[in-house]
Amino acid sequence: MRDKLVVGNWKMNGGLAANAKLLARLASEWTHRERRKLVVCVPAPYLGQAQAALSSGAVMWGVQDVSEHASGAYTGEVAAGMAAEFGCRYAIVGHSERRRLHGETDRVVGAKAAAALAGGLVPVACVGETLDERERGATEEVVARQVDAVIEALGAAMCRCVVAYEPVWAIGTGRTASPEQAQAVHALLRSRLAAAGAGDVSVLYGGSVKGSNAAALFAMPDIDGALVGGASLDADEFLTIARA
Ligand code: 13P
Repeated sequence: MRDKLVVGNWKMNGGLAANAKLLARLASEWTHRERRKLVVCVPAPYLGQAQAALSSGAVMWGVQDVSEHASGAYTGEVAAGMAAEFGCRYAIVGHSERRRLHGETDRVVGAKAAAALAGGLVPVACVGETLDERERGATEEVVARQVDAVIEALGAAMCRCVVAYEPVWAIGTGRTASPEQAQAVHALLRSRLAAAGAGDVSVLYGGSVKGSNAAALFAMPDIDGALVGGASLDADEFLTIARA
């Protein structure tokens, strides 16, 4: 049985005062629910703040990236084990912004997923096609290649991963994939995961998810939740998505 999971990705947003308000709302309004999880992925400097605000409740927290290395001379990098020391449970890896702006390849994303697991975190491995790739009919080829790289890196441990499908053209644009468009890609991902013995991993959809469109997306058979950017900064919107 697959977990239902809503993950907020704050990206490079926040500040101590604003975070305190948002975290307090989530902590007081989200109570434990069987097989339903709510996670916020905060910028690394705020992990301690998230831990202090959330550790007595049901909301979990994570990071937005980890190093592919466990320790050493990698200036500016954060290791999975360091994040885990702050009670962190999840790590987004391979977000399209990391792939596009920081040159992360499929190999690096696979290595980061493995490093997250080794450090005690659940990787949320992101895949997704650009608008150009969709328009030339390459969506399936691109997402298959991206998920296969993670499957290859993790092997049997793939069943401990979460996958997020985030079409790049839907991120921060207000243009959501239709539930049917998203379901088609999720079904493809599910079949590749199942072939690797990981058919029960949660597959999340991300890209302009809001309180108003979440329920229709979650009604699809292979959509197990959402990876939420902008709307995760607003407690009302984020809780509406989580309850959908
Ligand atoms: P938006 O929800 O702002 O479109 O961002 C999606 C995303 O990139 C989450 O990782």
